[in-house]
Amino acid sequence: MNSIRDYLAANEARFVDELCAYVRFPSVSAQPNHRADLQACADWLRQHCQAIGLEASLCPTSGHPIVLARTPRSRGRNKPHYVVYGHYDVQPPEPFELWKSAPFEPRIEGRSLYGRGASDNKGQHLAHINAVEAYLRTGTELPCDLTFVIEGEEEVGSRSLAEFLKERRQDLRCEAVVVSDNGMPAPGLPALTYALRGVAALEIKLVGPNRDLHSGIFGGSVDNPAMALCQLLAQMRDRRGRVAVPGFYDDVLPLTSYERKQLARLPFNAKSYARFLGVPQLYGERGHTSWEQRSARPTFEINGLTSGYQGEGSKTIVPSWASAKITVRLVPNQQPARILRLVKKHLEHLCPPTVRAEIKTGHGGQPYLFSPTSPAAQAGLRALKTAFGRDPVLLREGGSIPIVTDFKRILGADTLLLGLALPDDNAHSPNEKFNLDNYAAGMRLGAALWPELAGTAA
Ligand code: BES
Ligand code: MN
Repeated sequence: MNSIRDYLAANEARFVDELCAYVRFPSVSAQPNHRADLQACADWLRQHCQAIGLEASLCPTSGHPIVLARTPRSRGRNKPHYVVYGHYDVQPPEPFELWKSAPFEPRIEGRSLYGRGASDNKGQHLAHINAVEAYLRTGTELPCDLTFVIEGEEEVGSRSLAEFLKERRQDLRCEAVVVSDNGMPAPGLPALTYALRGVAALEIKLVGPNRDLHSGIFGGSVDNPAMALCQLLAQMRDRRGRVAVPGFYDDVLPLTSYERKQLARLPFNAKSYARFLGVPQLYGERGHTSWEQRSARPTFEINGLTSGYQGEGSKTIVPSWASAKITVRLVPNQQPARILRLVKKHLEHLCPPTVRAEIKTGHGGQPYLFSPTSPAAQAGLRALKTAFGRDPVLLREGGSIPIVTDFKRILGADTLLLGLALPDDNAHSPNEKFNLDNYAAGMRLGAALWPELAGTAA
């Protein structure tokens, strides 16, 4: 283990250069004009994996390719097998003008590496790959077989991966999946995440007059779809900050008192949290702390709202239509399909007869919950402690990684979530960054994890 640690420390500068090279690819999966960049990025990763001694290939899909990289298989000896998952696609960088430096020209300032995708998720899974490089290059025998599955469609709903898991079910059968695509509560404070929220998307369009109308000539005699949409959406939450859709909370698994106690131990200061987010005051479901609200309670969010004239100056119209993009975040045991049905039904029920509602339901992902007392979780906790030199905490996270429930359903494997992102890493925001201390700790984590999981740790 010492030689691995030494190797990681000795090669740190090169690992940073390699992360910069990886971040330089504008692998924006939501934007069709970046198709070739995703291909090039996947190809870079495949070559990199091959260069460090993994058996790597690009698997084409109907979307973006999946990079598959395995450790050379142990002959004769049956070692346990683990899958490491990550994604090389990134969120759109817009709005460009808010970036201090170009999103795909990585910049290092202090211990931060700035660039879109640095934290979500290129830096996090590259740390695991680097750890395995250290095993291979120092001739240290791995106590297990590993397969890296790095996809290019996570930020657009992992459309190809479930199919891929089914096709390769035999090859990918494993004891557990390891994922570092989430966060830790504070610098230096490692966490094992044992729950994720699910998500379900829908779009609503209220259609009124057959064209934009002069609001002086017609306004007052016909409903304004923008106004109707605002009133309709405003009814989706009540004064206690709860989602006002009948049946919405039916399947919500309440936090146990043990969990509430654990969450209450996490560092939190309402004032500095509000200042960090730039809001005058926090908001959330009454009767729950901020940590509970953002990780263990469901929400209804408007992600986008569009209607009428958006250009400069004013234009006096009654817009012909208004639309909203909505997602709900779900917690165990809410089911995306059922919740979408309830929300759609309620919106239709409340829609006034003066406009027509068109509701399209979109992608969904199930929430995830896994036992923090399982042997795999305990191994993860020990590896976190070794890597960070501090006792890890247990965490639920508010974000979603829908494929995690497919790992369970298709491969029968639980997922160990070992996040390396900091709360101020700006995932999905301008000036995304990854902390280089976390990058190094991630490599130490990758080094310590396999003997702990395989039960061969000293
Ligand atoms: N890495 C995030 C998910 C995440 C972030 C989990 C922080 C836990 C803590 C992932 O890339 C992501 O953003 N997922 C989307 C999923 C959606 C597109 C279906 C999300 O959560 O919005
Ligand atoms: Mn991610």
